[in-house]
Amino acid sequence: METVTTIAAVHARVRAWHKEGLRVAFVPTMGNLHPGHVSLIEAARRHGERFVASIFVNPMQFGPNEDFAHYPRTPTQDERMLAEAGCNLMFMPDVAEIYPNGAERATRIDVPGLSRILCGEFRPGHFEGVATIVAKLFHIVEPDVAVFGEKDFQQLTVIRRMVADLCIPVQVIGAPTVRDADGLAMSSRNQYLTPQERALAPRIYEILTATAKRLQAGDNEFASMERAGCQALEAAGFKPDYFAVRQAVDLSAPKPDTSHLVVLTAARLGKARLIDNVQVRR
Ligand code: PAJ
Repeated sequence: METVTTIAAVHARVRAWHKEGLRVAFVPTMGNLHPGHVSLIEAARRHGERFVASIFVNPMQFGPNEDFAHYPRTPTQDERMLAEAGCNLMFMPDVAEIYPNGAERATRIDVPGLSRILCGEFRPGHFEGVATIVAKLFHIVEPDVAVFGEKDFQQLTVIRRMVADLCIPVQVIGAPTVRDADGLAMSSRNQYLTPQERALAPRIYEILTATAKRLQAGDNEFASMERAGCQALEAAGFKPDYFAVRQAVDLSAPKPDTSHLVVLTAARLGKARLIDNVQVRR
């Protein structure tokens, strides 16, 4: 695996592959990789012939009181994990390479509606930062395919909409959430949990799964399920931002005959803000 830090080096490498007729699959990340990230590279292998991963902690998607400065950075370990997973090119730019005029004054991409609801309500500007960096990375890498985790379900929905609206010629693939044995979705932010909080954290998945079972059984009392989910999280010691049942296709309010649903939640536990979701097809 080759590691590069400049846009020019990525262009040169990927354009050479494209000249050879090879299909390029891309996995954007913020590093501090865990098996959830590695699963995206494995999914990418089913869709391409050369694999690119980026590691960039994107300042634009962090709020002023969020964890940008403290976000865990483990480049040496990340490089080893990507190489072992069969990645061909790792792109690890610094902030000046991506935002030469500063992130504050850079052009931004807004996906209205979708970016304001759920996590967007609690993290103003977050999805603007995500859409902007992903669009930039797509222009830098020029992949044929890009893989994103369903763990960040709203992020995946925002990116799909952006790609459709801007006619970006990249095929977006969603990959299933990888969990620890006790059900907790893997996340770099799980490290912020104390051992006691870590022991509680799998409740989030249990509560989501219990709601999914009700939906699967044909229960359409969406508002009552949302209230019950919030109450169960509070009773377990979380501070929920939201607990919502939505249409999976566009995160709009569900109808009794909606066949593909998703239950999503974000909840604070100590210093960590955990997000998770479960899909239901019926
Ligand atoms: P990051 O949190 O590093 O996640 C990178 C990718 O890994 C995302 O597509 C995310 O959904 C996926 N991922 C994280 N945990 C996962 C898990 N347990 N199972 C499956 N996939 C998982 O998401 C971002 O970075 C950034 O917002 C980014 C898209 C890179 C833009 O900066």
